Amino acid sequence: MTTPLVRIQDLVKRYPNGVEALRGVSLDLHPGETTVVLGPSGAGKSTLLRSINGLETPTSGRVWVGQTPVERASLREVRQRVGMVFQQFNLVPRLSVMANVLSGRLGRRGFWTNLTFAFPAEDYDLAYKAIADVGLVGREWDRVDKLSGGQQQRVAIARTVVQQPEVILADEPVASLDPATSREIMELLVQMAAQNRAALVLNLHQIEVAREFGDRIIGIQKGQVAFDERTTGLSDRLLADLYGETLCSVR
Ligand SMILES: Nc1ncnc2c1ncn2[C@@H]1O[C@H](COP(=O)(O)OP(=O)(O)OP(=O)(O)O)[C@@H](O)[C@H]1O
Ligand SMILES: [Mg+2]
Repeated sequence: MTTPLVRIQDLVKRYPNGVEALRGVSLDLHPGETTVVLGPSGAGKSTLLRSINGLETPTSGRVWVGQTPVERASLREVRQRVGMVFQQFNLVPRLSVMANVLSGRLGRRGFWTNLTFAFPAEDYDLAYKAIADVGLVGREWDRVDKLSGGQQQRVAIARTVVQQPEVILADEPVASLDPATSREIMELLVQMAAQNRAALVLNLHQIEVAREFGDRIIGIQKGQVAFDERTTGLSDRLLADLYGETLCSVR
């Protein structure tokens, strides 16, 4: 087993309204591995993912990315090393494909680039390549709000790729897409993560997609790890216990 890239230790998250979203989660994540997080709605999956790049602050427990603890003082470094893809793409709709993709470089550039959006040529090279890799050659200067949902998710993936992250978090990246487009996007995500030997961590509601693309499946239930299995060890029994009576509705 390789050295863990992400270490999560005894993570507890209690929101100000008293909800305990995570109740003592410990996990290691490895480079080059695709990990799928499954679990019923409200189990704590998004809270877990968002804790890895510091979008949520733990109530107790710790997360490390490499040797770096995820905390306020290290957020800039952590956000460079950890990319995120969202269900709703989170692009800037009125800007071009190129501008959205280049924004993935902002974390590596200084104040001046952030202010002027004047990127060096090497950033443009990376962006053109990433846009080609996600199959959008010729659309570089189109506004992203002119693109379909699947194409917008491709732009979001290209933005993450130019960031050259070691970890890619994807919170229900295909929940807004039709089944055929979902497959294409999943293939692309897995391929892009593999190219960068990044650890890919996905929250999914589609069990078949999890089985097809995951190396490892983690079941989260009521803020705790219910199981942690290689995909080949994922039985119907484990899934039935995880989802209980809601299984029919998620399948
Ligand atoms: N900002 C917040 N403030 C208060 N409670 C929150 C907040 N975010 C999430 N919660 C609560 O924490 C629990 C876990 O939420 P989380 O979004 O992590 O679940 P999830 O597993 O991602 O669910 P879903 O599958 O529906 O996306 C839920 O009870 C949720 O209502
Ligand atoms: Mg969620």
